[in-house]
Amino acid sequence: MKLLVYHIGILAGLDSHGSLRLQGTEMNLFESVPNAWLYVEDGKYVSYGSMADLPAVHYDKVVDAEGGAVLPSWCDPHTHLVYAGSREQEFVDKIRGLSYAEIAKRGGGILNSADLLHALSEEELYRQAMCRMDEIVRKGTGCVEIKSGYGLNTADELKMLRVIRRIKESTPAEVVSTFLGAHAVGREYAGRQADYVEVVVREMIPNVAKEHLADYIDVFCDTGFFTPEETARILEAGAKYGLQPKIHADELASSGGVEVGVKHHALSVDHLESMTEDEIELLKGTATMPTVLPGTSFFLNLPYAKARRMIDRGLGIAVASDYNPGSTPSGDMKFIVSLACIKLRLLPAEAMNAATLNAAYAMGLSKDYGSIRKGKVANFFLTESIPSVDFIPYAYTAPLIRRVFLRGEEIL
Ligand code: NIG
Ligand code: FE
Repeated sequence: MKLLVYHIGILAGLDSHGSLRLQGTEMNLFESVPNAWLYVEDGKYVSYGSMADLPAVHYDKVVDAEGGAVLPSWCDPHTHLVYAGSREQEFVDKIRGLSYAEIAKRGGGILNSADLLHALSEEELYRQAMCRMDEIVRKGTGCVEIKSGYGLNTADELKMLRVIRRIKESTPAEVVSTFLGAHAVGREYAGRQADYVEVVVREMIPNVAKEHLADYIDVFCDTGFFTPEETARILEAGAKYGLQPKIHADELASSGGVEVGVKHHALSVDHLESMTEDEIELLKGTATMPTVLPGTSFFLNLPYAKARRMIDRGLGIAVASDYNPGSTPSGDMKFIVSLACIKLRLLPAEAMNAATLNAAYAMGLSKDYGSIRKGKVANFFLTESIPSVDFIPYAYTAPLIRRVFLRGEEIL
């Protein structure tokens, strides 16, 4: 299948260097060309150029971009989008003054979602999750990571991961899955956290590995959840089955999560709202991508991660939505890019690199996704005609995305 997109006002997110990730000052270049065409064959980018030298070749499909911009699809490297029902009651409780941690302590929060998930059939869970998946695809996401972690016993964790596998098989987007059995201590193990950790290590991880249900392993390493010692034990058990960590660290407090993540060669350490200066130092010179989730800070009124500081200190960062029922029920990556500019003080080019190439890196996918480059998978979207790429985060609620293409095919 030969696809030509022409009359592109701005073709952006090009990648002449072929880097797997961008760090420090490199993040401030979101390469683009004006008045362009883009040629895709069998789902991969082949070439692009200026409208002045459009090649006269036969194409199977021709798309007139009518002056709109073309960008690589968003990559969202941290979500919990497989969940049952919703938790708007806790949203109201938070407005009334309860904190996220207080709600969790009362047995709400993650445990509330675990009860709802337990009561739901695998089929219905798949149906609900697939609606969210379709929603984010329409909003321009082309690669996404999805975590388990609302099962909290072996059977329900496996149920969640099987739903993620079904989503992988049925969506045109690229999906990676992460086992997050250590998201909270399951109700059956209340007051017996050490026993729960043993179940994660001895029962859940071997079963997840046997069915090849996860690409990565995660632990909610934070005050009131799992300690760095418990996290290390779980990550060591995962490593025996080849599961690389992507962990929750420093959301509620500076929790030691960055250190344990770096020590266990985590692909990413995520959240980081309460990260310290020493932890920024720890990340330097490592292959671990700090991934920040400004939607969570926005929704929970938490402090924002020091993303500006990290880039100024030479690190690369990725952004993600954290789409989940408790701390941020939205997977809108365009809004995340706006928050990255407005609240994290990233320049638009930095924010867009954080949501594309660096976000693909944080899922281990940046060799094939995250930028427009010959040989990469043609996941891109087409916008309304816009004056510049900076207009995208600036127009922070405008639905600018007009058409979406994944693997070179238009998604309806
Ligand atoms: O990333 N922090 C832990 N997990 C999720 C929230 C999960 C929930 O509240 O359901 C997060 O914010
Ligand atoms: Fe999360």
